[in-house]
Amino acid sequence: MGKRESISIGLMGLGVVGSGVAKTLFEKSDAIAQQVGCPLRIKKILVRDLAKKRDFDVFHHLLTTDPEQIITDPEIDIVIEVVGGETEAFEYIKEAISKRKHIVTANKEVISKHSLELFALASKNKVDIRYEASVGGGIPLVAPFQRDLLANNITAIHAIINGTTNYIVTRMTKDGLDFATALRQAQELGYAEANPANDIDGVDAVYKLAILATLAFRTEIHPDDIYYEGISRLTARDFRYAKELGYAIKLLAIAKKEKQAIQVRVHPAFVPEDLLLANVDGVFNAIQVEGDLVGRVIFYGRGAGSSPTASAVVADVIQLAQNIYLESRPRPQLKLYKAKKLIPISEIKTRYYMRVTVADSPGVLAQISKILGDHSISIASVIQKEADEKAGTAEIVIMTHPAQESAFQKALQRTLRLAVVKEIGNFIRVED
Ligand code: NAP
Ligand code: HSE
Repeated sequence: MGKRESISIGLMGLGVVGSGVAKTLFEKSDAIAQQVGCPLRIKKILVRDLAKKRDFDVFHHLLTTDPEQIITDPEIDIVIEVVGGETEAFEYIKEAISKRKHIVTANKEVISKHSLELFALASKNKVDIRYEASVGGGIPLVAPFQRDLLANNITAIHAIINGTTNYIVTRMTKDGLDFATALRQAQELGYAEANPANDIDGVDAVYKLAILATLAFRTEIHPDDIYYEGISRLTARDFRYAKELGYAIKLLAIAKKEKQAIQVRVHPAFVPEDLLLANVDGVFNAIQVEGDLVGRVIFYGRGAGSSPTASAVVADVIQLAQNIYLESRPRPQLKLYKAKKLIPISEIKTRYYMRVTVADSPGVLAQISKILGDHSISIASVIQKEADEKAGTAEIVIMTHPAQESAFQKALQRTLRLAVVKEIGNFIRVED
């Protein structure tokens, strides 16, 4: 049995996630002490603004604006980093590890960019780093990849891993909200990052995909390795046509292994409406994983918000505290032993939806079909929509058969140069 009377925690950050964590540690303190073997005690809480009004304020006397009060306190065993951002958080984590503190973080940016350096430092200092909350909010993902899926050769991940954008596309599809109103609601609900551009532009999903793909493929996938597009090009027309054609539009994070090479990308995608991923709505996330032994498994749940994220953070804290109490050795991090060979976006092959505004005159479709044919792109279906009589234009919606991205991009450029083409309204890749 352990000899500790209590285990001390330094909490860095008391925002959406930090207050959920503080509240959980406070309200569930007896149950947690039973699981650990001794009570957990929050000793200090780092914030930026001491005067800020806080909904959960029972720890007001513990607040500090000085990170050193946590990092250099010899009594603190576990540091929870939920301040967010890259530079300061990374420094705080490194310093805390150097002072031999175990780390729990929800910081996808720091983990996706710096995990190897942090794991090496942690190993040198004989401490552990846990980061379950960095991907998928309350959905268990990191632990399953580090344990339950270990025997598998993972071949693909298709994931909706950004709650803010999924909330926005859902509200735009189902309630006809405009983009700005849907974003504001997501921010009010605590889903969006401090800088919501990271959500909208796909960067947040890139960080999370880098973490998942690294775990899945046992090689370091850095955010810079991932091709990405956000949701800002999507219009009400795209959502309407997608529905007519039997698809939903989702911001998908995709990682696939083909032979020994890996493609990793984040972009809006047409998803057939009968697939589960097409029906994941609002802040919910879903992560579909294919393994050679297990087949297809799908993890589904709340991907953001105070309580779901606190669920993952506090679970990590409990496990670390159990190890401290029992004086167990830190768990080894996943071994990254595979060579990295990436497939560039230009070489992927997929189907495409394209929407083109053209002059409403004879022979237009023939000109576009010829260009697509010249680039070996076969048309699956074409519909002409809503001729605008006043402007003398029509809208053509084309679905293609699988084609190579580089060929499709060249065909788009040539199509845009046609005198009869007014605008390429949009193009969206299809994930069947
Ligand atoms: P947040 O609401 O903006 O809270 C950040 C907290 O950190 C605030 O308490 C702030 O202090 C404090 N802080 C920020 N910079 C600081 C600095 N330089 N020095 C001292 N204190 C500082 O952020 P959040 O939504 O809780 O997110 C925290 C982390 O969790 C991020 O890495 C995020 O990506 C991740 N995450 C968030 C969610 C979610 O649903 N929100 C889900 C999963 C993961 P003040 O309170 O005084 O301003
Ligand atoms: N901004 C993130 C999202 C928070 O919307 O999914 C959870 O990581």
